[in-house]
Amino acid sequence: MFFINPLKPICKLILESSTVDSECAAADELNLYFKNYFTLSSTGNDFNKELMTKGGIAISMKEAAFCVEDRLRTIRFIKGIYTAIQELIIRFPNDNINILYAGCGPFATLITPLLPYLSPHKISITLLEINPISVEFIQQWMGSPDLKDYNISIINADATTYRFPDDQPLHLVITETMFNGLVREPQLAVTANLATQLHKYGILIPESINLSLAYSSFGNEPYLKHDLPIYNNIESESAGQKKYGITIDELFKLNKDNNFSESITNPTEVFVSKWYEAPESFTDYPDVCIYTDITIFKEQRLGLASSYITNPICVHSLYNLFPKQYFRLVYSITNEPIWHIEKKGSC
Ligand SMILES: C[S@@+](CC[C@H](N)C(=O)[O-])C[C@H]1O[C@@H](n2cnc3c(N)ncnc32)[C@H](O)[C@@H]1O
Repeated sequence: MFFINPLKPICKLILESSTVDSECAAADELNLYFKNYFTLSSTGNDFNKELMTKGGIAISMKEAAFCVEDRLRTIRFIKGIYTAIQELIIRFPNDNINILYAGCGPFATLITPLLPYLSPHKISITLLEINPISVEFIQQWMGSPDLKDYNISIINADATTYRFPDDQPLHLVITETMFNGLVREPQLAVTANLATQLHKYGILIPESINLSLAYSSFGNEPYLKHDLPIYNNIESESAGQKKYGITIDELFKLNKDNNFSESITNPTEVFVSKWYEAPESFTDYPDVCIYTDITIFKEQRLGLASSYITNPICVHSLYNLFPKQYFRLVYSITNEPIWHIEKKGSC
């Protein structure tokens, strides 16, 4: 059963955190709070079951619960969401703010910590989740008398096709259904479906996901890993932004306006880059890599390797191309979202 009182000091810690250390400390407190409710040691049952959706894989309940441990991700999303809600209350002074959280997992991690700081009379929350096990868990968890004043509905549905009721304005969409480089999970398909349903002055969280192409030495890149002291390879946020290779181009931005709702009709080529000419000399940066930068909302951002979802990905080796050979990058979501290289003359 969800209890709101123990969340109050955690919410304060989160909203007041202003350094990487204080953000990590707040995330650890939140993780402890959730762990009281959930034993993550279960194996070989539905806790570990992944589902295939139209636009990618819905990770298991166990993995979704673990997302809280992606510490800067968790804290910055929560802070960004809080700021966005305050902004919407100003933008829509006479409305109840309708919030749709798609892919909420078992804890609705990115919004439940804020409940003690949100007025139940100003917001309505729809929690959407495709995994029935997570839905069952969150239904029980949130059936708490502490939440009786809040208008929260829980829906078991696919966010790539779900329609929010037409007779209500949709003010805020929150979705974090992604891996780094937008591979594997259905963030793009979910965004394509939900961004178009937002009110004209509504807000999408994350505000923007920017993918860029670089040649790099992938093994030397900052990369956040499990089981290592977190951030041990980035001394500070600004150091984390430093790339070892050279940025070649911006590939695309995924945001409220550039939401791919039209191009997604061709899942084998949702995005095709322009042609690039392979360099003749590349020994210091032999890998074709993709970087992910996320603007969650306003100043809340995630740069290179400050979270698992902004780790770099390596798509190809320049050693597998001839010097000056033309190639392009193709993003498809036919089975699961993936990047591959097409070489000119061989496709
Ligand atoms: C990366 S986890 C995030 C969990 C939690 N929201 C958080 O941020 O910590 C993504 C969640 O989205 C759910 N999901 C993935 N695809 C979905 C879809 N098409 N429709 C609804 N939920 C989906 C997964 O089952 C999983 O619970």
